[in-house]
Amino acid sequence: MSDATNEELLAEARRVLVRSFGSDFTLPVIAKAEGATITDVDGRAYLDFSSGQMCATVGHNHPRIAEAVRGAADRAVHINSAMLSPEVVRLGRRVVELLPRPLDKVFFLSTGGESNEAALKIAKKVTGRYETVGLAHSFHGSTSGAGAATFIPSRRAGYGPPLPGTFAIPAPDCYRCPLALTFPACEYACARVGFELVDRQSVGSLAAVIAEPILGTAGCVEPPPGYLAELQRLARARDMLLILDEAQTGLGRTGDMWGGDRDGVAPDLLTISKTLGGGIPLAATATTAALEERAYRADFFFFTSHLNEPLPAAVGLAVLDVIAEEKLVDAARDKGAHLKRGLLALKERYEIVGDVRGRGLLMGVDFVRDRQSKRPAEAEAEAITRECLRRGLFLAATRQASRYWVWRVAPPLTISHAEIDRSLEIMEAAIRAVVGG
Ligand SMILES: Cc1ncc(COP(=O)(O)O)c(C=O)c1O
Repeated sequence: MSDATNEELLAEARRVLVRSFGSDFTLPVIAKAEGATITDVDGRAYLDFSSGQMCATVGHNHPRIAEAVRGAADRAVHINSAMLSPEVVRLGRRVVELLPRPLDKVFFLSTGGESNEAALKIAKKVTGRYETVGLAHSFHGSTSGAGAATFIPSRRAGYGPPLPGTFAIPAPDCYRCPLALTFPACEYACARVGFELVDRQSVGSLAAVIAEPILGTAGCVEPPPGYLAELQRLARARDMLLILDEAQTGLGRTGDMWGGDRDGVAPDLLTISKTLGGGIPLAATATTAALEERAYRADFFFFTSHLNEPLPAAVGLAVLDVIAEEKLVDAARDKGAHLKRGLLALKERYEIVGDVRGRGLLMGVDFVRDRQSKRPAEAEAEAITRECLRRGLFLAATRQASRYWVWRVAPPLTISHAEIDRSLEIMEAAIRAVVGG
């Protein structure tokens, strides 16, 4: 443990660390993380309403995770990627038991970007085609294939041409509808019009559409009910595969096991990451036995140094145990409803809160200058977020200049009602401190 202060460590960081995410190092330097609380090196504690990078759904440093890491350290941390360990086989069985049918095959990687790369590659191998469709503003990872299907301008600019044959369709954003329509009268026009444009641009090689059940990085956009089923229908009409990226939504966060459950949609490929490893790099790509067989026969290759690793698999098993034993899927639904009531009350009281959306414990709080124009209240939202931090609550924002500025409210599923109430008090005090009563 370091004796250095926050200020000293941040100064040192600015000297030696690469800034890779568009912002300088300003946030507190964290010395300890436990449950829903993170504590900085100066001893200040914060409620972590971002669950780390959305990975700590079972709470930070859950004792079962610590035990699993220690156990793996006593047995095997790493083995040849072509070899298996009992942990990996058991995790495979457990994940397959949870998957929506007909998905029944899975393999394990390290990051969400990789799991999407793998899903896109399987889709290309089995269809023999290469064009992919994503939703505008969605985020699927920083690697080339997943990045090419990520349509956030700041993530794409300056790296040369992305993969040829990647198309965006409008995001299903009912708060700022790109077509200025309203649901349900729109009849999913964003998807239908999007695919009409794709049809005009395609060279006849459409392979897959990739989507998040809730667009977490796009300002927590929650598609209207039935949207994913419509997306699947549009994909099937073109003989394309549907990939659901459940990095943020998978394993209970939305109050269902999977984000696609609300619409009763089982995709052809499903990717899991953040939530499976509880903070340890662990991701998975799942598909059906039929597609796996076709990919295998077509020589599908995705081999990394950390393919099917024993240590992360042991942790994944512990995470699934905790989710089941502590009934965290139900907890996400119940506590999410409690938190949402509080957030909606803030919306009622403060004009600057333009919208509260999402479900379970994945919600967006959209800060606007006025409710008519819905232009983002960027400066005020930044100040409110800083004020929350000063008062002991960390909230992560997703934003796009002049378009939206949104808190992604996503505490660990183990958060208590008292911690939720405390966070709501802090949010309200911070809003009042910045914009008045
Ligand atoms: C929906 C979604 N997919 C993929 C990723 C990429 O995951 P990773 O950062 O583990 O590569 C993220 C990360 O934020 C994400 O939110």
